[in-house]
Order: sequence, then C-alpha cells, then structure tokens
Amino acid sequence: MARFDDSRPEMTAEEFRLLRDHVYAHCGILVHEDMKFVMERRLWPRLETLGVPDFSAYHRYLRYDANRHAELEAAVESLTTHETYFFREPSQLKAFREELLPVLEKRNARTKRLRLWSAGCSSGEEAYTLAMVLRDEPRFEGWDVEVYGSDISRRVLTMARRAEYGPSALRATSADLLERFFVPAGNTKVRVRDDVRAMVSFGHHNLLDEAGSQLVMKMDAVFCRNVMIYFDQSARRKVLRILRDRLVPGGYLLLGHSENLLNLGADFELVHLRGDLVYRRPELPGLVGGEVR
Ligand SMILES: C[S@@+](CC[C@H](N)C(=O)[O-])C[C@H]1O[C@@H](n2cnc3c(N)ncnc32)[C@H](O)[C@@H]1O
Repeated sequence: MARFDDSRPEMTAEEFRLLRDHVYAHCGILVHEDMKFVMERRLWPRLETLGVPDFSAYHRYLRYDANRHAELEAAVESLTTHETYFFREPSQLKAFREELLPVLEKRNARTKRLRLWSAGCSSGEEAYTLAMVLRDEPRFEGWDVEVYGSDISRRVLTMARRAEYGPSALRATSADLLERFFVPAGNTKVRVRDDVRAMVSFGHHNLLDEAGSQLVMKMDAVFCRNVMIYFDQSARRKVLRILRDRLVPGGYLLLGHSENLLNLGADFELVHLRGDLVYRRPELPGLVGGEVR
C-alpha cells in the first residue's frame, strides 16, 4: 500500500475519467480535461481522511462502500465553487424589481401569494437578497411571500441557515441596506434581521434530481444564477426541463449574466426588459412572444 508520508498518489488518465464521469452523473458538474491536476489536488485530502491508497481505490469506494453517498457529497463539496454575495448583479435585481414585480403583483392579485426560488443558493446571500427586495416593496404588504433557497452542499446550507456574514458577503451592500436589514453579530459579522429570515427557508436539493424536484412547490420566478456554468449542455438541458416544470405558466427564469439558453432548445421564451433579458415559461405550450405581460 502506498504511504502518504512518502508521496501522494498521482491520478492516472483512466482514474480521472472514471471519477469525472461519476461526479458528472451525480450533479452535472463537468471537470474538464485540463482540470485533472485541480481534481487531484482537491481530492487528495479525501484519500488521506479515508486511508485509501490511490484514486482507483477511491473510485471503488465511491461506487461500492456503505458510506458511498456521504463520500460522494464530500467529493462534490471539494469540487464545487460557492462564490456569492448580497445584491449580486444589481442591474438584474433592478429590472426584477421595476419590471417583473409589477407583472407578478397583477397576476397574483387574487391569491396575494408569491413564491421565489434561489436554485443553487450557496450560503444564502441570494435568497436573503430577494427577501430584502420584496420587503422594500409596499405593493406586497400583507401578501404571503416565500423565498426558497436550495443547494447540493449541506455545508453552505448550514451557513445559510445561520445567516451570519462578514465583509466579503457584504461588498455590494450599501450602508443604508446594511442598517435596515442586518443586526450586529460580534466584531466583524452581522446577522440578517429576523423578519427577513422568516420569509426564507432552505433545503438540500440536487438540481438534477428529477424525482426530488417534484416536491418543490410551483414558483413564480426562479433565480438560477452562476450554477449551470459548471455543467455541460446535456446536464443544462435536464436542469432546464426540471426548472421549467417547477414554474407556473408565465413564470420567470433568471440566469447569471454570463449564461443564456442559446443552443439548448429549451422551451422558454426570451423576454426583453428595459434593463435585462430574462426567460419565461410560456403561458400555453408553443406560445411565444417578447413583451412583458
Ligand atoms: C457559484 S455558486 C452561485 C450562488 C448564487 N446563485 C449566486 O449567483 O451568487 C454555485 C452553487 O451551485 C451549487 N450547485 C452546483 N451543482 C449543483 C447541483 N447539481 N444541484 C444544486 N446545487 C448545485 C454549488 O454547491 C454552489 O453553491
């Protein structure tokens, strides 16, 4: 058996292919060929923790060990990027507030219910940001408003539920918003105010899990920003089909600014807002148009 204090095992091309495919099948994240070294470096600590001698044995562990589900979560954890912060992509949030919320207010005037989903919410900043935007909208006073945040990583969900953040998470948050929506929590941290927290719930959810997604309530808008950039086309298609199914007819999908649905044949219509482009589940199958309704 190779000893770790002698040298760390190298990942062969075949081991890389097996591990990459296994991770991809589970969560859609595609580790590119030129990322072999990164994968090797990030997974080494797992081998050391488990006392597994090389990457072939680690692959076998992921496939057959009784603890394989937990270990796959740990592997995905070490390969995912959780970068996020409050009020990210302000121009999109402005377009959402000024152009989509009035449409949603009209559409849901009878039920006075609004459901938003931050899909791939990381440590919660995006979900709380949406709750803060809604809190600032007098038009939704007295409404039943819920924001759902979900992620594949249990570690970031624990942080989201704790709702305590440092300066990096707040780098795009104005002093005014900081004052109104946060309370001090120790020397360098702040905590999201309780009334905002009460609007948000978090859950563990793999966006590729078709059966699990059936349990997610129907949404008026889904923010899935900076998640699918790590997926290949086939995983993107699958996630888009799932997200479309979770939207009410006419519901909106908002992606990150570097993402679009080009070449995905996804069944969404493009909506040109003054300040952004968003996607919408058609009201009726096959109906397409461009204006905001
Ligand atoms: C870069 S963060 C984006 C956070 C936030 N949406 C934003 O734009 O600021 C990407 C998140 O997607 C999550 N993720 C990756 N693959 C996923 C999957 N298959 N299902 C659910 N979440 C996933 C990661 O764990 C990570 O927290």
